[in-house]
Amino acid sequence: MSADLTQTLTIPRPDDWHLHLRDGEMMRAVLPHTARNFGRAIVMPNLVPPVRTAADAQAYADRIREAIPSGCDFTPLMTLYLTETTDPDDLEAGFDAGLITAVKLYPAGATTNSDAGVRDLTRVDAVIERMAARGIPLLTHGEVTHAEVDIFDREARFIDDVLDPLRQRFPTLRVVMEHVTTEQAVAYVSGDQSGRLGATITVQHLMLNRNHMLVEGLRPHYYCLPVLKRARHQDALLRAATSSDQRFFLGTDSAPHPTHLKENACGCAGVFSAPNALACLAQTFEDADALDRLEGFVSRFGAGFYGLPVSEARLTLERCEAPLRPPDPIQVGDRSVTVFDPLRPIHWRVRP
Ligand code: DOR
Ligand code: ZN
Repeated sequence: MSADLTQTLTIPRPDDWHLHLRDGEMMRAVLPHTARNFGRAIVMPNLVPPVRTAADAQAYADRIREAIPSGCDFTPLMTLYLTETTDPDDLEAGFDAGLITAVKLYPAGATTNSDAGVRDLTRVDAVIERMAARGIPLLTHGEVTHAEVDIFDREARFIDDVLDPLRQRFPTLRVVMEHVTTEQAVAYVSGDQSGRLGATITVQHLMLNRNHMLVEGLRPHYYCLPVLKRARHQDALLRAATSSDQRFFLGTDSAPHPTHLKENACGCAGVFSAPNALACLAQTFEDADALDRLEGFVSRFGAGFYGLPVSEARLTLERCEAPLRPPDPIQVGDRSVTVFDPLRPIHWRVRP
């Protein structure tokens, strides 16, 4: 224990309810950063090609399990990538076997590797109907993709044009609005009385707004989708995350890309936060005078939504008087991946 330690916080081992692990060399490099600190993670299926069938999910889960460092107690929770050819029987069999936890909806073209996503939602009615009947959660990338809709408005439009009509057609469907970024999304979730709607929030959307990305130079490592919004929306997210409202829980959306593809004339979307997500959150909750609310957000509410037990294992965060150095980039073969840096002092770390 370091001499300048001023405070510790011990909580049930957290979970990450929205994570990109990729595959192959990249997966093997990034996975330890999650497996070290999180007990479970909902693993996104936007590989190339995507994880479309139960067999794909089984093979991907096997590859992930092989890459978990020994001594880490980590369970990947697998998702299927919803396409217009998803077979409801295959999904249900995977769900019943405990292999598949949820299904991810990417509107085609909304984000990284979403080309195989859904163009016409009515074409997946049979799948959604089955999910609604069986309680299989639908995880939404909640942005419309029409060229004429401004990128800052795409989430709010998705709620009105896509999500709410869908939920009215399938009232028993369980939905997680992934990585919410707007006050409209917070209001939509807060106003829901069904008990079937939750939302994940990322670290970067709690710590940053679009000024951080665009003022005094363009910061490509803050570019992700849905894109950072104005400060008013950041405030709404922070209030939701620190409110002890069980419908809001952590999904880091940690999404690694090689540094040279982020620092690029056409940079990719994604923030790699797995190594320091919990430290950054502890700082954020402390700054909001809500450290006592961190446990619910990172360790309890997501498990509750998914009907899973809260971890019996414990993780300790410790506060150091001196700010900690931001993490170095990680090496993936001959490439590097830049770690999220909120560019403000972080005094917290996970006890090694
Ligand atoms: O910023 C993002 N990156 N948003 C997404 O929805 C996908 C993710 C990725 O896979 O890189
Ligand atoms: Zn994501």
